[in-house]
Amino acid sequence: MEMTTISVFGLGRVGLSTAVCFANKGYRVIGIDTNENVVEQIRKRRPPFFEPQLDEYLKAAIDRETFLATCDPSLSQESDLILIAVGTATRDGKTDLSGVENAAATIGRSLSQTEHRQVIVIKSTVPPGTARKVVKPTVEREFNRTADKQFGLCSNPEFLREGNALHEVEFPDRIIIGSDDPEAAETLERFYREFHGGKLPPIIRTTHENAELIKYANNAFLATKVSFINCVANVAERFPFTDVKTVAAGIGVDARIGSEFLNAGLGWGGSCLPKDLDAMIEFSRASGYNPQLLEAVAEINRKQWQKATQAARDALGELAGKRVAILGFSFKPQTDDFRGAASIPIINDLLSEGADVVLYDPASMDNARKVFQDRVSYARSAYDCVEGAECCIVVTEWDEFRTIPPSAFVERMAQPIVIDGRRIYEPDEFMHAGVRLWAIGLGPRNE
Ligand code: UDX
Repeated sequence: MEMTTISVFGLGRVGLSTAVCFANKGYRVIGIDTNENVVEQIRKRRPPFFEPQLDEYLKAAIDRETFLATCDPSLSQESDLILIAVGTATRDGKTDLSGVENAAATIGRSLSQTEHRQVIVIKSTVPPGTARKVVKPTVEREFNRTADKQFGLCSNPEFLREGNALHEVEFPDRIIIGSDDPEAAETLERFYREFHGGKLPPIIRTTHENAELIKYANNAFLATKVSFINCVANVAERFPFTDVKTVAAGIGVDARIGSEFLNAGLGWGGSCLPKDLDAMIEFSRASGYNPQLLEAVAEINRKQWQKATQAARDALGELAGKRVAILGFSFKPQTDDFRGAASIPIINDLLSEGADVVLYDPASMDNARKVFQDRVSYARSAYDCVEGAECCIVVTEWDEFRTIPPSAFVERMAQPIVIDGRRIYEPDEFMHAGVRLWAIGLGPRNE
C-alpha cells in the first residue's frame, strides 16, 4: 500500500495521541497546530498534557523521524490523509465550530497548491450536518473546486478515553466511517485495515450524519448510565441494608445491561461527557425535539455534586470554620485534567459556607492552585491532607487513596468523619475501625 503520509490538524489529546501511534507504526505523520508554544514543546519531546506513556511514544516517533510537529500548514500538501482533530468547545450549549472551519479553510487553500488527491477525515466531535454543510463547502470555497475531483471527505469520530488514549488508538472498539464518497471511505478503510492488521475492530460504514450522531449518542449513553446508577444510589440510601455497589453488580451481569459505567459516585465530568451532552441537548432542541431524558441526566449529575456538601453539613452542622479535607481534584484518576470535575463545584460550595478547605491530588495540584489560589490550602500527601480535619471527602478514586487504612483517618483526623464519594472503602471495615463513614448509595446499616 502506498499510503504513507498523514497530516493531523490539532495536537490536543486526540490529535497528538493519534499522530504518535501512526508515526510509531512507520507512517510519515505531520502534526499541525496553530499554537506555537504547543508545537515548540512537542518538538522538545514534551507532551503539553499528561497522558500515560505519551512521552515515550512521542520520543520514539521523533527519534525514528516519522513525526514532525509544525505550525506550517503547507507541509500537509502531499498527504494522503488529512485528519481534523481540533477541539470543539461548547458555549451556552452550542458547539464552537470555528477551529474546524479554520482547519477546513486552511486545508482548502493548501489543496490548491498540489495535484495530490487527499482524503480529509473529521475526527473532531461535530453536530450532525457539519461535514456536509460546513466542512465540505468551506474546503470547496477556499480550494475553488468541488469535492469529488481532488479531495474526499470522511467523518471518523474517535472514542478515546483520557488516561487510556494510546491503547484506544491502537485497539479501538470500532471504527466508524461516514461518507458519501465511496472512494474516500475505501481509502480510509484500507488504511485502518493495514494499521490494525490482525486486530481489526468492526468497521461501520455509513452517512456523515450517522457517524456524527453516533459520537454524541455514545457519550450521552455513558452519561445516562452513570446518572442512572446515581439515581439508584439515591434510592438505596433511603432503604436500610441496601448498597448500590451490590445492586450494580446484580444488574451488571445481565448481558443486556453490562457491568461497565455502573460505578455510582459524585457524578461524571471531563472534557467530553458534559460538553457533548450539552451540545446534544442544544441541537435536539434546535431541531424541535425536547430531549427530556438527556436533560434529566444532566440535572441528576448537578445534584450529585451537591450531595458531598450536604453529607458534610449533616455530619458537622455549620460548616463555617470547619476543616474539610478533599481527596482528589482531577475529574477521574490517571489524569491531571480537571475540566468538568466534581471537585470544583464541591469546593466552591464548601468555601461559600465558610469551610476551611485543604486539598490533595496526586497529579493535579498545579491546576488546583491555578483555580483556587490561596482560597484553599494544599497538602503534600493524602495523609497530610486529613491531618486535623473534621471531615474528609473522597472526590476522585485515585489508587493511593484506596490503600489508606481506616486507622489513618481515626488517628489523624480531629474527628474521623469520611464521606466516600466514590465508594472506594469497605463500609464494614471502616465502621468497625471507628470511622464515621457516609458513602454514596449505602443505605442505613440498621432499621
Ligand atoms: C469519555 C468517553 O468514555 C470517551 O469514549 C470519549 O471519547 C470522551 O469522553 P473520558 O472523558 O476520558 O472519556 O472519561 P470516562 O472514563 O468516560 O469517564 C467520564 C466520567 O464519568 C468521569 O468523571 C468518571 O469519573 C465518571 N464515571 C465513569 C462514573 O462516575 N462512573 C462510572 O461507572 C464510569
